[in-house]
Amino acid sequence: MDKYILALDQGTTSSRAIVFDQQGTIQSVAQKEFQQLFPKPGWVEHDPNEIWASQAGVAAEAIAKIGINGKYLAGIGITNQRETTIVWDRETSQPVYNAIVWQDRRTSSYCDELKAQGLSETIKQKTGLFIDAYFSASKIKWILDNVTGARAKAEQGRLAFGTVDTWLVWKLTNGKVHVTDVTNASRTMLYNIHTLSWDKELLKIFTIPESMLPEVRSCSEVYGETGTTIFASKVPIAGMAGDQQAALFGQACFEPGMIKNTYGTGCFIVANIGTKPVVTKDLLTTIAWKVNSEVTYAVEGSIFIGGAIIQWLRDGLELFTSSAQVEKIAQRVEDSGGVYLVPALSGLGAPHWDPYARGLIIGLTRGTTKAHISRAALDAITFDVKSITDCILDEAGISFRELRVDGGASVNNMLMQLQADVMDRIVVRPKITETTALGAAYLAGLAVGYWSDLAEIQKYWKEDKRFTPGANKEKQQKQFRTWKRAVERAKNWANE
Ligand code: G3P
Repeated sequence: MDKYILALDQGTTSSRAIVFDQQGTIQSVAQKEFQQLFPKPGWVEHDPNEIWASQAGVAAEAIAKIGINGKYLAGIGITNQRETTIVWDRETSQPVYNAIVWQDRRTSSYCDELKAQGLSETIKQKTGLFIDAYFSASKIKWILDNVTGARAKAEQGRLAFGTVDTWLVWKLTNGKVHVTDVTNASRTMLYNIHTLSWDKELLKIFTIPESMLPEVRSCSEVYGETGTTIFASKVPIAGMAGDQQAALFGQACFEPGMIKNTYGTGCFIVANIGTKPVVTKDLLTTIAWKVNSEVTYAVEGSIFIGGAIIQWLRDGLELFTSSAQVEKIAQRVEDSGGVYLVPALSGLGAPHWDPYARGLIIGLTRGTTKAHISRAALDAITFDVKSITDCILDEAGISFRELRVDGGASVNNMLMQLQADVMDRIVVRPKITETTALGAAYLAGLAVGYWSDLAEIQKYWKEDKRFTPGANKEKQQKQFRTWKRAVERAKNWANE
């Protein structure tokens, strides 16, 4: 019997497990949503034990569905929601607090203090990141400062920190292995992306003991073997990358200048910039991957609300009952009828970095219908992406020809056409849009010799559909300029 690779894709709203064969074809999928906790406005938490339970459950289900066990797995690749912060007791493996999710804004005012101390430039130069509550460092500090006894325990070396990748490896190996990979490390705001090491000065600024931190490894190597009963035999854990970097890899964007966007909860536009970290004004510089001891860097535009705006129209405004209906409803009108929507529901990420911005719908008249609002929401997603691709062009000097797309909303043909129109660039959707999991599988497979090299992987990337800028492009570009005025009005709204 042939062997397979199992990818574990631990996302913000669900845990997924996908089994791939040697052609990169999906053999089996299992998925489970888990609880989102909102203890206070602006706070977002997950229960780390539920993250593990859901991930372990879908892993077992995915292999059971095709009647295999661990003996038929050549390796496991892990990819994950990034920045989300977990601190646990090394002895008991029990978290000392819930996972503080990347979307959580509770540390915004602390981040303002850091900015007021004039630390923005130092931090940007070392980490490639903007001071923002998005990243892990301020979240770890919050746990140490607010959970009774946590700081003392941390100082005695009894606590471990990890992003979700680290937590999953810890659980899969029964607490034997405490590691992360360069991509996840590069999102903590504690990792120096030039020296490739935890940065002592940053640890001091955030008052975080170094003993809490995992060892940082490459994205494609054997970190350890599973010690759980899920697989019935030991399986090498051999690949690891944050979900957006894994998607760039799964999209085979191996050459500098290649660029992808994932339309998920948020939108994450990532461009390969090669082996030198270029620091730009409004974008993040981050590590794309480290494979065969070579580090590849990327610039990234992170948009916090992407597909989530459609969910909000569905669940918050109850405009429709399933997200797929948005395309049909939006098609009832020719355009948004002068309605503009700014999806700043959790502040604005790139290129504005304004945690105090809030969502806005403007241009309403007596003639406005839900079709106009639906269309304005779709437009807004494409406008947000266009803001980032403009920065990639202007600040990183990358004049890309095509944008490779993936993620849930990339199946929406209308959205993809609007994207091509407003950018005046080709949008290409691959046959397999599960590129995040695929990227993690490729990284694991490369480490265990399941695939030989990048050239082999490149061959498995196949185009499904391409969208070329059409007759509507001037109109969409004009509306983009008007939308930017609406964005200015949404800024700083909650900063009273
Ligand atoms: O940086 C956050 C990102 O990694 C989350 O991705 O797909 O779980 O929304 P996703």
